[in-house]
Amino acid sequence: MEEKRRELTWEEEEEHAKVDVWKHLLKSRCHGSPMTLLELSSALSCDPSHLYRLMRALVHRKIFKDLNTTQKGSSGYAQTPSIQRLRKYKDLWSFSATNPDHSKLFNDAMTCDAKVVVPAEIKSCKGLETIVGVGGGNGILLRLLVEVCPWIWGINFDLSHVVSVSPECDRVENVAGDMFDCVPKADAVITKGVLHDWGDDDCIRILKKCPEAVPKDTGKVIIIDAKLANVKLMLDVVMIVDTKKGKERSLEEWEYILGEADFTGHTITHVHAIQYFGIQAFS
Ligand SMILES: C[S@@+](CC[C@H](N)C(=O)[O-])C[C@H]1O[C@@H](n2cnc3c(N)ncnc32)[C@H](O)[C@@H]1O
Repeated sequence: MEEKRRELTWEEEEEHAKVDVWKHLLKSRCHGSPMTLLELSSALSCDPSHLYRLMRALVHRKIFKDLNTTQKGSSGYAQTPSIQRLRKYKDLWSFSATNPDHSKLFNDAMTCDAKVVVPAEIKSCKGLETIVGVGGGNGILLRLLVEVCPWIWGINFDLSHVVSVSPECDRVENVAGDMFDCVPKADAVITKGVLHDWGDDDCIRILKKCPEAVPKDTGKVIIIDAKLANVKLMLDVVMIVDTKKGKERSLEEWEYILGEADFTGHTITHVHAIQYFGIQAFS
């Protein structure tokens, strides 16, 4: 998408600089060996004294290590072991699959905001008999939804290592599978906090599977996800580390992937949670 050209504010420039530093440090040879401040500042064409202060903050947050690599005492920066460990895996989900504690921690964290999302989406669920939660995690969203909408049957759809430990619930069935292959059929699809884990091409692939799962004329695809402006740019940078291709999107970027996935229209719902907003997309 073409970005409209305009002067960047000082804050935006600073955020761009942070993103450049992260991208460079994460994707460059710094994987194997540390980079000195001068190497980094010349690669990024930026002022070493400003860069030093930024790196000092990232070291303080334990995102990078500061190593005294040269005789002259100039610092070398390297990734911390925790980031390197994560990056050995194909993505966050393969890391979770082999680390049950991480999987539980992650799902527990995701549970917190489901309570805020459900009241905002009750209206969208009127008239539905079945709904499938794609990438539904431990199924909390659907469990809360069927509690307030007892006429609905929920299908919590996620990878097998996730649904195998998802709690049982009377009106929610746990189904294992891969959303890139096929989504179980229902009156509506709901996906919360899933698409921002993926790059545009993967999002478009996932979104193209959703209309195949719902009735042609009446089916709904409900997306609850983060929107830039609600979330800060730094969280977008964290997505580079956690997911490789995941990103936080502006409304225009969401509209771009919806268009590419052949949706012809959408409406927006407001969710009173800091990071989320809702999109109901139509084919
Ligand atoms: C950020 S979590 C969101 C979980 C849940 N929607 C919530 O908000 O509580 C993303 C979910 O996508 C699931 N996921 C990742 N790859 C998947 C795939 N190929 N098929 C189905 N689910 C997948 C993960 O296992 C994880 O539960």
